[in-house]
Amino acid sequence: MKESRNVNQANGNALINAADISRHYTMADGTVQALDNVSLTVNVGEFIAITGPSGSGKSTLMNILGLLDTCDSGTYMFSGLDTKTLADNELSRIRNERIGFIFQSFNLIPTLSVVENVALPLTYRGIPTAKRLERSLSALEAVGLSGRLSHKPYELSGGQQQRVAIARAIAADPDLILADEPCGNLDSRSGKEVMELLLSRHKCGKTVILITHSLSDAKYADRILTVCDGKLYK
Ligand SMILES: Nc1ncnc2c1ncn2[C@@H]1O[C@H](COP(=O)(O)OP(=O)(O)OP(=O)(O)O)[C@@H](O)[C@H]1O
Ligand SMILES: [Mg+2]
Repeated sequence: MKESRNVNQANGNALINAADISRHYTMADGTVQALDNVSLTVNVGEFIAITGPSGSGKSTLMNILGLLDTCDSGTYMFSGLDTKTLADNELSRIRNERIGFIFQSFNLIPTLSVVENVALPLTYRGIPTAKRLERSLSALEAVGLSGRLSHKPYELSGGQQQRVAIARAIAADPDLILADEPCGNLDSRSGKEVMELLLSRHKCGKTVILITHSLSDAKYADRILTVCDGKLYK
């Protein structure tokens, strides 16, 4: 396996350009080096899969790429913008408008209905009510949940909750979808449907980064990278 250094070629078409990024966590009993000098370029419209053992740093990387967290050192350019120079409100705007997240744990809001959960990020974007509803219904139809609009997350199965999370990520039509183990809680048929949904976003020209333990899911991607002990390998 070759460590993925020097894959950080300047490329006008890069959506993501991370150079030597590191992230550690400090706790009472010591330090964990979750990411260790990771460099990664992802071009607009690419579909990449990231695999690696549990605890290797995949979710840490996803949080940084999705502007939910920052690196300790290194440079992270998103769409040509150096993220270190961006104010919090600019980072939030990019997150809301350009990035869709599908988390390992679904991160649905328990007090909101299915359709309200999907519509919430559109509210942050200031999209008018009627348009929010139209987009949310269409995304829920795409994941086969039109019959569960007023259910609360606890009234759904794990797989259905994951599909709500996917509908929420695609409703805003983001440029980048970051999916962290989106099929981890699904049976193989639902998992295949989820992969087809991600593939359909990719075919629409969107960039998809999939974190997965499943080699068969990773094979949907154009490129497969591996994280091991905080280092990225290609
Ligand atoms: N908030 C945190 N505080 C302290 N340590 C953390 C924190 N988040 C992650 N870590 C540690 O950083 C390392 C990488 O964690 P990360 O969640 O990125 O792994 P992962 O590859 O996503 O694992 P999994 O496949 O189990 O989801 C682990 O050793 C983990 O214990
Ligand atoms: Mg993880």
